Amino acid sequence: MPPIQVVIFGASGDLTARKLIPALASLVHKGQPAEGLRVIGVSRREKSDEAWRQELREAIPPELKDAFEALAPHLGYEAADVEREGDLARLKARLDTLPGGDATGRLFYLSLKPELFAVSVARLCTASLLPRQREDEATAWRRVVVEKPFGHDLASAQKLNAELHAHLREFQIFRIDHYLGKETVQNLLGFRFHNAIFEPVWNRQHVELVQITVAEELGMEGGRGGYYDATGALRDMVQNHMLQVLALVAMEPPSSLDAEAVRAQKVALLRSLRVPTRREVAETSVRARYAAGELRGERVRGYLDEEGVPRDSDTEAFVAIRAEIDSWRWAGVPILLRHGKRLKKRFTAVQVQFRTPPLQLFNRPDGMDDDEYRRALREGLLCQRRPNVLTLSLQPREAITLSFGVKRPGSAMNMTPAALRFDYRDTFGETTAPAYERLLLDALRGDATLFIRSDEIEASWRFADAYTSAWRSGEVPMREYPAGSWGPMESDSLFSGCEGRWSEGV
Ligand code: BG6
Repeated sequence: MPPIQVVIFGASGDLTARKLIPALASLVHKGQPAEGLRVIGVSRREKSDEAWRQELREAIPPELKDAFEALAPHLGYEAADVEREGDLARLKARLDTLPGGDATGRLFYLSLKPELFAVSVARLCTASLLPRQREDEATAWRRVVVEKPFGHDLASAQKLNAELHAHLREFQIFRIDHYLGKETVQNLLGFRFHNAIFEPVWNRQHVELVQITVAEELGMEGGRGGYYDATGALRDMVQNHMLQVLALVAMEPPSSLDAEAVRAQKVALLRSLRVPTRREVAETSVRARYAAGELRGERVRGYLDEEGVPRDSDTEAFVAIRAEIDSWRWAGVPILLRHGKRLKKRFTAVQVQFRTPPLQLFNRPDGMDDDEYRRALREGLLCQRRPNVLTLSLQPREAITLSFGVKRPGSAMNMTPAALRFDYRDTFGETTAPAYERLLLDALRGDATLFIRSDEIEASWRFADAYTSAWRSGEVPMREYPAGSWGPMESDSLFSGCEGRWSEGV
């Protein structure tokens, strides 16, 4: 394989030390991606190659120490300010002297503040580091990885897309969403489109409801309060990670695993998400922040008392939404999305709840006759059990569970819950690689399947903006929940009748 150069802008940042370097170290340790790999860290502060290496060495987790030493000789550092022409000329001169020179592939990773994304690309182009490229360029390719957040609403995302497209072709731009690097998220594609038995029931005829939860125990650790308060739960998690998961759960089958085929189906799904009116937002969304509470036996402070959060903040740390997809496959099926910080337990899961049989023959309460039983079910005085739920647990437990009812032994016809379970750990051991590892490798190979295309980003923002603008106009009150709970009670009312309740993880 020819040499490759990776240039990380934001080399002194947290993401570089915590995610990017460990991912590259692990790849090199596994013999990927190339002998001639060179990684040049760039940030404004002057320091030597060795000083940067040492900083990274100190941050590396113990289990990756050996892997890091395999990467260390490939690491170099260059002090540069992207806004200064002279600095970029010096960077280019250095890159040109590395193995392969400018005839080799270069990946520019922008681990920078979002306001620097467009300007950095423009400057890198002016400095001839990042030219607009022909599609068939196999060796001296130029790609750029853009971190999140990609815009803060539809208008800013469209503007950023236009700014990037002014200099680069879409296939050179890799918008990262680390959820797509998770094994269990990729498995959503595999599970749905390899196993033909689920496809015939994956629609409104058979599915009653879909719910997706990303519950976190984390609050505003690591001084994140200031950033988070300007963002909020909807923009931090729903607009990107959760809509990506939903797209994989609900999209139509792609004709191949080619990046454009997969992304075309994802964007079609995202575009078919119903954009709610203000009134609908008020009826179908709950936003909240946590008050002081207890988590894993420790007292934790409320959101408004977190460092960096203004006392008069109006930002949500919890969001729950009842959405709908306007498509023949999904029309009328409630799609419930929930995410919050400082919840009782960390878990991410998708639940696909299947419809009940048309007649309930079982579990009639003692002393109730059949007619009475059926009337009570019809009138909603009793709820029919939902025995068939497919749960795709994405993290921390990585598992798939399909529940069903079995007859409890005995003289009565009573059905009781049972399940089929698959757990990654039992089958594969602890093998799932961190998300950034897979994503970096794909970017180096030029495979954009797990990266977000410009139209996907815009479709997601169109949906998210409907909520933020209704919230801003005061349509939806801010609720509170004690830290360490499952969120505000009001989110339970997004389920109606016998539809069920929020999952509490497995
Ligand atoms: C990030 C968000 O994108 O994802 C964080 O900014 C969040 O607020 C994190 O905690 C969650 O990622 P994971 O992989 O831990 O679920």
